[in-house]
Amino acid sequence: MRASRPCRLALLLLAVAAAAGGHDFRRDFDVVWGEGNARFRDGGREVELSLDERTGARLQSKQRYLFGRFDLEIKLVAGESAGTITSFYICSGGARHDEVDFEFLGNASGEPYLLHTNIFSDGRGEREQQFVLWFDPTAGFHTYSILWNPHNVILYIDGVPIRVFRDNAARGVPFPARQPAHVFASIWDAEDWATQGGRVKTDWASAPFVAAYRRYNVSTTACVWDEGGGRARCPPAASWMARRMDWWSWMTLSWVRMNYMVYDYCDDRRRFPHGAPPECDIPIGRS
Ligand SMILES: *[C@@H]1O[C@H](CO)[C@@H](O)[C@H](O)[C@H]1NC(C)=O
Ligand SMILES: *[C@@H]1O[C@H](CO)[C@@H](O)[C@H](O)[C@H]1NC(C)=O
Repeated sequence: MRASRPCRLALLLLAVAAAAGGHDFRRDFDVVWGEGNARFRDGGREVELSLDERTGARLQSKQRYLFGRFDLEIKLVAGESAGTITSFYICSGGARHDEVDFEFLGNASGEPYLLHTNIFSDGRGEREQQFVLWFDPTAGFHTYSILWNPHNVILYIDGVPIRVFRDNAARGVPFPARQPAHVFASIWDAEDWATQGGRVKTDWASAPFVAAYRRYNVSTTACVWDEGGGRARCPPAASWMARRMDWWSWMTLSWVRMNYMVYDYCDDRRRFPHGAPPECDIPIGRS
């Protein structure tokens, strides 16, 4: 039986909707650096980015977003990974850019990764926090998330909040709320500083260094910037848009800070001898 015209149209729309909800890195991203070093697998549901002596690789989302919850599953370079940085971040670009970073600093074989995070608003960063992980990030995929709404930016690992940056515009701290951002994923070489302060260099005999990414799906969790209209379109009933830290989130965040945080710019007296930046003295627990 042949479907009638309206039926065919409905089927077509269904197919388009299904495709839009699926995972496809080829559909959602451009390879903006290191073309040959981004390998799509499983029909685009997974992508491997590799670093060799020639080049690394970087993906950039085709769309820009203004607020969203961005989840990505990543499996980091196993074995020797000194000098390498595997990243997942959002960045607005522009002279006074906003940016939220997950950067995984590789290490000598058998030594732990260091997770380096930073948040730029209105062109200013210098808000580094670093963590060790409570699992082996090379043994399997884990979910790394950036939640970005008008109230706060929260970074999560497997649903556990590890960092929060609240809107403190009222206290003179710019909050990223106006500039749409692209999502990026990349692997690159930073042997002059990444590993143990640059003492351990990249061992090119172990190249290529390969990190795998999967399950990028923002179909109902991000506000897409309409390039023509100059405004963002948000999915309906977006609960993440209102999310703030609740009691349980503060408890788990404290657990992470106590056990896994190895550096917090807020505590760096040498860098900020005249007192930590204003967003630092807001007591944890208040939302
Ligand atoms: C993408 O996310 C939407 C909303 O959460 C969900 O309905 C859809 O099944 C997801 N797609 C895949 C392929 O998991
Ligand atoms: C690498 O391992 C050393 C020793 O365990 C550790 O001090 C360091 O933080 C790790 N990460 C990096 C990126 O150097």
